[in-house]
Amino acid sequence: MIREARHRDADLLAAMQAEAFPEDRWPALGFMTLMAHPGTTAFLAETAEGPAGFALVRCVADEAEVITLGVRPAFRRRGIAGALLDAMVAKAASSGARSLFLEVAEDNEAGRALYAAYGFAMVGRRPGYYRRNDGTVAALLLKVETGSETTSP
Ligand SMILES: CC(C)(COP(=O)(O)OP(=O)(O)OC[C@H]1O[C@@H](n2cnc3c(N)ncnc32)[C@H](O)[C@@H]1OP(=O)(O)O)[C@@H](O)C(=O)NCCC(=O)NCCS
Repeated sequence: MIREARHRDADLLAAMQAEAFPEDRWPALGFMTLMAHPGTTAFLAETAEGPAGFALVRCVADEAEVITLGVRPAFRRRGIAGALLDAMVAKAASSGARSLFLEVAEDNEAGRALYAAYGFAMVGRRPGYYRRNDGTVAALLLKVETGSETTSP
């Protein structure tokens, strides 16, 4: 159900990014560029009904970061984002990253609920981080431990 994406999936990733984040569309070339970076992995969630979600994670040394994560509206509340998070945590842990970080908009109730349910803790807040038509919204910086064996007690 979850597989690593390849360069030929860049159009699909861009289409799902546009569906999940209409105000933050990325071109296929952007995904290709990101996937070419060492340490960056893209994941696709596929179902019998078609592609359902996607995620990108970047692992550098002992830290990893979720670059983007989205699930197509028709496939939400089926555990797909949770499965994508599992894949990213496993990738981060196998890369030696002890912590997985991400940023979520303070007004993103679904995202915040997802990450809280997954066990992420808030470690920072960046006021004015996201631009909106009617102003700006803060970003919350969240973190979860990956369980990597390199984790110190
Ligand atoms: C946020 C998002 C990725 C969740 O995807 P999803 O596949 O529906 O999430 P899951 O089914 O794995 O949800 C797991 C848990 O998270 C919580 N959750 C997820 N969406 C929720 C919502 N809309 N309202 C309340 N809780 C929610 C619930 O606890 C849920 O468990 P439950 O369904 O058993 O109650 C999806 O809504 C989405 O793509 N949104 C647009 C893009 C986005 O905001 N990305 C994340 C921010 S970077």
